[in-house]
Amino acid sequence: MSHTQQQIQAEAHRLYGLLANVSKTKTAKWTLEDCLAAAPYTLAINQAKQEKNAVILAHSYTTPDIVYGVADFRGDSFQLAQQAQKSNADIILFAGVWFMAQTAKIINPQKQVIIPAGHAGCTLADSMTGEDVQKLRAKHPGVAALCYINSSAEVKAQCDVCVTSGNVFNIAQKMPGTELIFVPDMLMAQNIEIELKKRGTPKKIIASGGSCCVHDKYRPEHVEQLRAQYPGIVVLAHPECAPEVCALCDYVGSTKGMADFVAQSSHTQFGLLTEGGLVNRLEAEHPDKQFVWPFGTCSYMKKNTLINTLQALLDPRPDQVVQVEPALAQAAQKSIQKMFELAL
Ligand code: 13P
Ligand code: SF4
Repeated sequence: MSHTQQQIQAEAHRLYGLLANVSKTKTAKWTLEDCLAAAPYTLAINQAKQEKNAVILAHSYTTPDIVYGVADFRGDSFQLAQQAQKSNADIILFAGVWFMAQTAKIINPQKQVIIPAGHAGCTLADSMTGEDVQKLRAKHPGVAALCYINSSAEVKAQCDVCVTSGNVFNIAQKMPGTELIFVPDMLMAQNIEIELKKRGTPKKIIASGGSCCVHDKYRPEHVEQLRAQYPGIVVLAHPECAPEVCALCDYVGSTKGMADFVAQSSHTQFGLLTEGGLVNRLEAEHPDKQFVWPFGTCSYMKKNTLINTLQALLDPRPDQVVQVEPALAQAAQKSIQKMFELAL
């Protein structure tokens, strides 16, 4: 980290220009001092990225110093998978959780894929094994199986099509038959069943028992409290929330869907039932709008820091380098490829 004081000052001001409206804690915003502390790292990471021909893909739930300081692309699971597929870089550094980096590796077996957070789990991805899917499919022969992208390579390899929160409803609707297996999110499975019924194309959804430890904490009272405290507030939720919560919200969609909704809305006050990183992104991008966030932090996403991003880029530990056995990668890739076709 050999940048001059002048370069560090300039970088801190660049960061502060992006983060001044972003919450660092529940009660404090990012300060110039915070940005001064981050600047030597963002400078070093951006330099190492160029020298190594690396690209940084960051999920919106990672911290704003990563999202705005060093990421080349920021977005939801689908956008980041698309970027991974398009990338010409030699190295993909994925600031996210393990299943996301693993998906990038499956799409790019020839590239080095690294994840600063190491084996950062996800309660959904960790809830089910490939063998569990095999057993479920054996009980329901002839029924097509969708897997949420928040799943392991083993689970993806056992399913017909992978989906993300941004395309799940449309892809589920396109699937043949009146029954569908959907794993591993039981709450999203219920939301699919409800949505397909609304669209006039009902299907029985056969689910497993996983849930997101962040989104499954929201209850109808959280929506009611937001509406009571902020009359006229527009409430948005992720489809990993329970259906009784989603039913009370004004919009339900992926992190990109929520961001697009806010960008297109003439309203100025939004309640967000999702992980705090998205709240930070919206604060950065819409300083004229107000965001109310009851709670919700994904500790797995937050394992990515500027410090381990720099370390992983310069000299990754074995647990930060994603490896997927080729036969497994090939089997899992089919369901991801099918998603790209059906999402069009
Ligand atoms: P998105 O694809 O909407 O970004 O969701 C990913 C995720 O992990 C939500 O908890
Ligand atoms: Fe997994 Fe939930 Fe974290 Fe998303 S927010 S990565 S679903 S644990």
